[in-house]
Amino acid sequence: LALKASCPSDKIVWDSPAKSKTEIDYVIQHAPGAIVNANSIAELDMYPADHGLRLGLRVLLMSATGAPQVFDVSSSDSKFGEPITSRQEIIECFVRRPDLVGLHLHAGSDIGNIAQNASRVSAVYDLALEINSVRVAAQLPALNYLDIGGGAGVYLDGRPSQGLEEYAESITAKCDVLSSPLQIITEFGRFTYGHCGWLWSRIAALRSNTRDHYLAILHVGADALVREIYQPHPQPHSYTVLDSHFNLDPATDKIYDLAGPLCFAGDVIAREISLPQLSLSHSIIVCNAASNSLALWSRHCSRRMPAVIHYRHQQSCVLAKPAETLEDIITFWS
Ligand SMILES: Cc1ncc(COP(=O)(O)O)c(C=O)c1O
Repeated sequence: LALKASCPSDKIVWDSPAKSKTEIDYVIQHAPGAIVNANSIAELDMYPADHGLRLGLRVLLMSATGAPQVFDVSSSDSKFGEPITSRQEIIECFVRRPDLVGLHLHAGSDIGNIAQNASRVSAVYDLALEINSVRVAAQLPALNYLDIGGGAGVYLDGRPSQGLEEYAESITAKCDVLSSPLQIITEFGRFTYGHCGWLWSRIAALRSNTRDHYLAILHVGADALVREIYQPHPQPHSYTVLDSHFNLDPATDKIYDLAGPLCFAGDVIAREISLPQLSLSHSIIVCNAASNSLALWSRHCSRRMPAVIHYRHQQSCVLAKPAETLEDIITFWS
């Protein structure tokens, strides 16, 4: 995907706990100079000596991150990274394998206070310094990158999220990695995209089964917002209502649940939110929906993925990806 998007191969970072030999050979052939982080010392056996990559090793720090359990990849039973308890083996491996040039850390997603990740960055930097001193003694080249992963959370209800300045300050307070010769690579996902897009849906139906319960059924639900529906305590989004002329309608007349179009009871993306008195000519915007939505799209009920439209302030809109067609769905299942 990155190559197809004309990303230079030396800007590509590939992490995965389940790389196949075929995939590794593909990257070696098509993305020379890419950064590839091996998930374990054992994985390194899959790389030939002349791989031409910037090869690094992911380290598992085994310390609680404060991220929701399902996104916390730092626990002692995690599948990600070589456990830091194997410190000596890691150092010996870096002496045995001079082609290893970096270390990688990604502690989890939606880490409540990303500044707390500074202690993990500092711990991996310590390891890098120790590796470098052993390497210098063995006349081997020093490491040239530290990939500190992503993990900064965002607030989907529109509250300002924590910035990265505090994170950088916390790292600097603990160690001098940011002014060291190591290239620092980051992998912020949700923080980069979370607030950059929204989902728009017409109202498919309105109903009220009992006198005090109002429900709007939308054309989007658990198919696009998989995490929100299947996670036990999802973060709430904020919602905006447009009237029939696509003007904002900020009224808060009634309490509604917003249900999706899928075939199960739990497909409700918002409960008890205050909205204007809705009619079928209103439409709803799910705000801050640009991360972990289309990437997690669910084929349950075989609904078509909506179009993706790109825009910049005061510039015209561009159809970046057309909506799926019925043919696309048939092709998927055929
Ligand atoms: C290795 C790695 N890096 C970066 C990310 C992005 O995480 P986030 O969106 O929390 O910044 C992930 C997400 O799962 C990941 O597995």
